[in-house]
Amino acid sequence: MQTESRSQREIVRFEDKIALSRDAAYRFTALAALSARTGRPFTVALSGGSTPAILYRLLAAPPFRDAISWRDVHLFFGDERCVPPDSPDSNFRMASETLLSQIEIPPQKVHRMPGEMADHDTAARQYESDLRAFFHLSAGEYPRFDLILLGMGPDGHCASLFPHKPALQEQQQLVVATEPGLQPFVPRLTLTLPVLNNAANILFLVAGADKAETLARVLEGPLDPEALPSQAVVPANGSLTWLVDKEAARLS
Ligand code: 6PG
Repeated sequence: MQTESRSQREIVRFEDKIALSRDAAYRFTALAALSARTGRPFTVALSGGSTPAILYRLLAAPPFRDAISWRDVHLFFGDERCVPPDSPDSNFRMASETLLSQIEIPPQKVHRMPGEMADHDTAARQYESDLRAFFHLSAGEYPRFDLILLGMGPDGHCASLFPHKPALQEQQQLVVATEPGLQPFVPRLTLTLPVLNNAANILFLVAGADKAETLARVLEGPLDPEALPSQAVVPANGSLTWLVDKEAARLS
């Protein structure tokens, strides 16, 4: 493992995606323990994608599963595809199969996005009002998640913030409906940038050779967040950590 720190971010390189995911599981467990020590619930926004799925499988099994007090965890979602929760494309379904079905978490502490609603804007507003109620937010305030997990697509998107889409500009709403830039081509619900950037901790999980070129542009290229939305994730008062495997980091 090699670590490199720059002004506001840490980039940690791993031999492969299993080592990367194991490190993410340790970080998740440590942050959960930190919240538990302060007597607060641990609030996490989960990501979709194949790399986070490996992390969820690790968290669902010993030793991590038994080291986390799941009763004190609230799981939210950073984005969702607009499909029913039992669809193979659903991020909730992926999280259920890999993690939720294996841990003892009260169902009311799993806050899924209502991807099945026919009116996607209404679905976004409903999730936003759930967030506002849970985090006791006044007008103009954003939730502060203890941890937001993100993957990065080969086009540089994260959550469902795709290049050159209006969702990238959103400053007022916490959750919006958006069109995708990649498969599956179904509309999405996503947390917006001000929410991501208000998190206490952000972990990007990026693995695979198909990400190498984009990762190098995101981490080292000129700033162009319209084209590379992952560059727009810069928490104002939180930590930003990129966990990347050797293949993804080949050009960085
Ligand atoms: C989704 C996501 C998305 C994902 C990236 C990376 O719903 O697809 O939340 O942002 O995390 O596309 O996915 P991979 O890890 O599968 O490349």
